[in-house]
Amino acid sequence: NAVPVITIDGPGGAGKGTVTQLLAQRLGWHLLDSGALYRLTALAASRQGVSLDDEAALVSVATSLDARFEPSEPGQPVRVILDGDDVTAELRTERCGDNASRVAVMQPVRDALLQRQRDFQQAPGLVADGRDMGTVVFPDAPTKIFLTASAEERARRRYRQLKDSGLSVTIDALLDEIRARDERDMNRSAAPLKPAEDAQVIDSTGLSIEEVLDKVMAFAGQA
Ligand code: C5P
Repeated sequence: NAVPVITIDGPGGAGKGTVTQLLAQRLGWHLLDSGALYRLTALAASRQGVSLDDEAALVSVATSLDARFEPSEPGQPVRVILDGDDVTAELRTERCGDNASRVAVMQPVRDALLQRQRDFQQAPGLVADGRDMGTVVFPDAPTKIFLTASAEERARRRYRQLKDSGLSVTIDALLDEIRARDERDMNRSAAPLKPAEDAQVIDSTGLSIEEVLDKVMAFAGQA
């Protein structure tokens, strides 16, 4: 498949989602939010009464996911439809993210979602956001970015987002969750979170979205 791919991997809260969306928009390319597939698997499982410990049942949930991604207004999140219901907001909760990272440690679940992710590689190009886009799903991607930021910075960003949407949380609680999720994502044996050998690492701590975007465009030869 000669369609170009830019992979954006890194821990949660580093700004991958926003950067991926703006980049895809600017280039007119497709977008893959791979985390949404793990979140959908966790959500579909809980709706079907499937335990997050039941690997075989989770594989069948992942294989038979009936999900659609619908383009939205610029700047708005892509709408995600599961079994006909709009689950966009539910998918973004901390609980769903945490459950996603629990199902994501299971290699058979990852295998079940692999081809679905690769199917997003369509002309004229793809920007793929996740943890293992450059290492496992698109190892031949010509441009690989590993976007990171300090845990404290990521907690502050998440706090601002949640406060804007009216939820009450503390920075300390968010920091604990972020550290726990990092720990699980980096130390699992199945596709652990780490930069691909040929990835460009960008630390977004203290950078604006525009500054990050300019760096990525320069690495991709699209500046
Ligand atoms: O990026 P997002 O926060 O939506 O991802 C939720 C969880 O899904 C992550 O914490 C990670 O455990 C898992 N994930 C993964 N591989 C990906 C994308 C997400 O394991 N490519």
